[in-house]
Amino acid sequence: MEARLDNGDIRPVEWIDGSIKLLDQTRLPLEEVYLSYQDYRELATAIKEMRVRGAPAIGVTAAFGVALAAVHSKAANLETLRTELSEAIAVLAATRPTAVNLFWALDRMQAIIPRAIDPDHLRQLLVDEAARIFEEDDCANRQMGLHGAALLPDQASILTHCNAGGLATSGYGTALGVIKAAWQCGKQIRVFADETRPLLQGARLTAWELMRAGIPTTLISDNMAGALMRAGEIDCAIVGADRIAANGDVANKIGTYTVAVLAKEHGLPLYVAAPVSTIDLNTPRGENIPIEERNADEVRHLFGTQIAPSNVQVRNPAFDVTPHSLVAAIVTELGVVRAPYEAGLRALARAR
Ligand code: MRU
Repeated sequence: MEARLDNGDIRPVEWIDGSIKLLDQTRLPLEEVYLSYQDYRELATAIKEMRVRGAPAIGVTAAFGVALAAVHSKAANLETLRTELSEAIAVLAATRPTAVNLFWALDRMQAIIPRAIDPDHLRQLLVDEAARIFEEDDCANRQMGLHGAALLPDQASILTHCNAGGLATSGYGTALGVIKAAWQCGKQIRVFADETRPLLQGARLTAWELMRAGIPTTLISDNMAGALMRAGEIDCAIVGADRIAANGDVANKIGTYTVAVLAKEHGLPLYVAAPVSTIDLNTPRGENIPIEERNADEVRHLFGTQIAPSNVQVRNPAFDVTPHSLVAAIVTELGVVRAPYEAGLRALARAR
């Protein structure tokens, strides 16, 4: 096997001299457009509109959002600045409810606030903490890649769902990070990417990102996965996570549960790759995870074109929960956890 270079230099979010630069993921793959933010409220809207998305990237962006609020505040005393920051944290926390990385990152930013001795000191501490969250996520992804690559056999055909790549993180990816690491080790792998209705993160983002990395990729519609598994064309599946409950139940993009059931029926392992910041030990089981319900028009329309009767009833939960019994292993930056998950996940949290 021949090692390959990493050319996955994606930066979905960056802090540049007091502004936040976002790669607008709603425009990919047709256009590569960058947006610049100096107002945290506009940034919160961008998170809701999924211009930036994916659990770790949402957390990193929100952390930078708190720094942005501090840097652009005119508050001259510490108390006023602290009050403004509480409001900014509340606005950013109200964007997307399922990805626990959002709340994890905002809690880290909140914990910094009492440490400052004056407003400028607080601004600097917050910028530094957000940069640390960004860098730690990047490192965690790469570590996760190394731990997870060993799980993927050479010559494997791997199914993935949604986008858990560099676009969804600081820049390397969780599930796609594992795939990239295996590819960089020289493994001959190929990926089947579910298109991932309703917003098509698989078709628009995963296909774009994997092709950019030079990894053989085949796009399939969501309803093809079962037939391909039955035909023996898929060896395993790997996905990311928005929140992992203490018992190992996994919330991820709607359709992940379907993939998990299909994998079980066909005797294939389903792996979940996520940083420790996605593990929520305060949420005991999957049914306690809040699931975001999004606008019905995301299902009734496709790229602005109506594809269903205007008044048809719609359900649009953005995520589902896969019970831990269907998960073969959870790959984190600290290592691979297998059942019984509760003990393993608690040990990881202690090791952190
Ligand atoms: O609604 P999205 O696009 O934010 O959902 C993203 C996912 O479900 C990802 O699989 C998950 O956040 C993991 S990203 C590394």
